[in-house]
Amino acid sequence: MIYPIILAGGQGTRLWPLSRSGYAKQFLDLTGSRLTGSGFSLLQQTLQRATCLSSTPPLLICNEEHRFIAAEQLRQLNLTQSKIILEPVGRNTAPAIALAALHATAQGHDPLLLVLAADHLIQDPLTFQNTVLSASPLAEAGHLVTFGIVPTHAETGYGYIQKGATLGEVGFKVSRFVEKPDAQTAAAYVESGEYCWNSGMFLFRASRYLDELKTSRPDILEACQAAMLDTAADLDFIRVDAQAFAACPEDSIDYAVMEKTQQAAMVPLDAGWSDIGSWSALWEVSEKDTQGNHLTGDVLTLNTHNTLVKGEKRLIATVGVEDLVIIDTQDALLVAHKDQVQDVKKIVERLKAQG
Ligand code: GDD
Ligand code: MG
Repeated sequence: MIYPIILAGGQGTRLWPLSRSGYAKQFLDLTGSRLTGSGFSLLQQTLQRATCLSSTPPLLICNEEHRFIAAEQLRQLNLTQSKIILEPVGRNTAPAIALAALHATAQGHDPLLLVLAADHLIQDPLTFQNTVLSASPLAEAGHLVTFGIVPTHAETGYGYIQKGATLGEVGFKVSRFVEKPDAQTAAAYVESGEYCWNSGMFLFRASRYLDELKTSRPDILEACQAAMLDTAADLDFIRVDAQAFAACPEDSIDYAVMEKTQQAAMVPLDAGWSDIGSWSALWEVSEKDTQGNHLTGDVLTLNTHNTLVKGEKRLIATVGVEDLVIIDTQDALLVAHKDQVQDVKKIVERLKAQG
């Protein structure tokens, strides 16, 4: 049995000003129906992929603040059987997955958890499904499977997986897992041809993840166990003990488990995967005109190239510019160079600091 676990607790600050703390990017239809033919939010597209793979209703884990949006988006897909674990505060992905694994094993079951980020785009869902199914024997045998992507550039926002010996019919042993290396290291990894990007999607037995956490981060496991001792069910929401969870250390699965485990396996995935992590990533996957521009809203361009413009209400005109991102919303306008969009999150940090 595959139990889909959807991580939807990120804030998506690099996609400000469209992604806001009250309405983070996974809940937005960022890719638009032109690209995917769906018109669904990134979260809903993820849920659809999950339900094609498993008849078990997906489990969602998100911040308490987003509970109504999350429940409404599940309802729109008729996924009324799905449960939602609410985190009073974000403690990153290692604790979020621990809560899911503890919930999944509570009744004495030990399913394969298919851990999916809520904000990825996959252009070939059928290949994705087949790849996940082909990876199940490795997960059943006790490996922590990650899906690897052939890197196209020295991205520093991803984890890197060094491919080891072949494993089973479709996999490889992970010789080394390095989360978010610096630019120079990332470039050397890409150059070597030995590394894949970590897609941030995983398949493993719930008990295997908990065992690994017990070895590498017992503090996280113990805090999550304490938080799950006192859960309150309220409609489809599962509320964890706020005080116990607040005491949990913050860390991602990548640092807490994947960099340390001896049992990691990698299965290559070639399904048009993309992490819509920044405005330039969205530009990359969007349909463009002959000048390389992706324009939505009322936009007029002259001698403008490789630019992303998203307008909502008023007319936007650009003249003689290239490689820009222009995002115009009701109350904020972002103009950024495409090479520096990773720093949009610093603007959000500054805004937060100003209150
Ligand atoms: N429930 C919950 N709680 N979900 C969370 C939390 C949290 O505290 N923090 C993040 N998430 C969700 C995000 O919404 C996203 O769907 C997923 O977990 C991954 O978190 P990101 O914050 O987007 O991670 P990342 O992009 O920096 O890095 C991960 O993904 C890369 C590929 O996109 C890593 O796994 C990298 O190794 C990987 O290359
Ligand atoms: Mg991400």
